[in-house]
Amino acid sequence: MIGLFERLARPFLHALDPEDAHSLTIKMLACAPLPRAAGDDKRLAVRAFGLNFPNPIGMAAGFDKNAEVPDALLRLGFGFVETGTVTPLPQRGNPRPRVFRLNADRGVINRLGFNSQGAEAVLRRLAARANAGGIVGINIGANKDAADRVADYVRLIERFAPIASYVTINISSPNTPGLRNLQQAEALDDLLARVIDARERVTRRAGPTPVLLKIAPDLSLAELDDAVGVARARRVDGMIVGNTTLTRPASLREMKIAKEAGGLSGRPLLPLATRMLAETYVRVESAFPLIGVGGIDSGAAALAKIRAGASLIQLYSALVFRGLGLVAEIKSALLSALERDSLDSLSELVGADAAAVTAEAWPG
Ligand SMILES: Cc1cc2nc3c(=O)[nH]c(=O)nc-3n(C[C@H](O)[C@H](O)[C@H](O)COP(=O)(O)O)c2cc1C
Repeated sequence: MIGLFERLARPFLHALDPEDAHSLTIKMLACAPLPRAAGDDKRLAVRAFGLNFPNPIGMAAGFDKNAEVPDALLRLGFGFVETGTVTPLPQRGNPRPRVFRLNADRGVINRLGFNSQGAEAVLRRLAARANAGGIVGINIGANKDAADRVADYVRLIERFAPIASYVTINISSPNTPGLRNLQQAEALDDLLARVIDARERVTRRAGPTPVLLKIAPDLSLAELDDAVGVARARRVDGMIVGNTTLTRPASLREMKIAKEAGGLSGRPLLPLATRMLAETYVRVESAFPLIGVGGIDSGAAALAKIRAGASLIQLYSALVFRGLGLVAEIKSALLSALERDSLDSLSELVGADAAAVTAEAWPG
């Protein structure tokens, strides 16, 4: 049903401005009477950050920024949904147009700039579904005009940790000027110290909530050394690698659109994001699990992420080009991979290729 509906709707959605198409998709998901997807094969289950994921495939942050449709996405077969980025106060983001499709490259460029309905609206929605089950995380960011950005993260942790399955600290969006500077060692140490402290305060009254750190794929390896060192020292529960890239791979065909400012995602991001994931994996030394995101558009790409070091994966851009049928396709590809190697669980594949990936030539 969903597949047929999507096949009919996609040409229409692609004729619209990408942001209008996205708003319409959210509206459709909010009112469609979706049946619950069949239960997942037990071999796809993943335990990470103290949570039990029915399957490793998550909806990446940015699709459901305001937590309007997390339960629809879970019903469609995602193992978890990351809502947000939410900012403390509502803000409009950058002027439109600010999302661009690179059709020939199967990529997307966005410079949304944290358009958010703000913490109160998002909190209300997450609180209303708090007993519905399923893993729903929240990705948090600072307001563009915040006088003290770290204080924004602390405030959001205090509000969201009691009701979200996990909280992601997003300091890797390229579209809020200066935000990525929080990834530098000293700034990151101060941020994580205060964030983890806030999380501990919440834990005492509401129980523990995992805190994850989402980084950019554009860090140098020296910056990655620092970021992983600080994340380990401050005992974050996991890292997400990573956000969109400001780089423009030489292979891009949509030359004109590629000149738009903003973060690139989708298929052209896969080699860089997977390399950074493997580089992160070898530095983390199993201190915590990683979520691999960036360019996953097939079962093979999902498997490559897991073999490069991801315990869990997320995707967004490929849904624009491939539709929601991709989730089922990835699940069956992962099960085939397990059967091929006579394995009972994906955990046996995590990081199997990490060292080999880090030895390859740097993706251009
Ligand atoms: C339109 C759009 C909006 C996004 N918004 C956010 C966001 O608010 N917060 C965030 O952490 N990542 C955001 N992302 C990044 C995605 O979560 C993901 O890290 C990135 O797109 C790479 O995955 P993909 O290639 O599967 O899309 C956004 C991506 C897109 C395409």
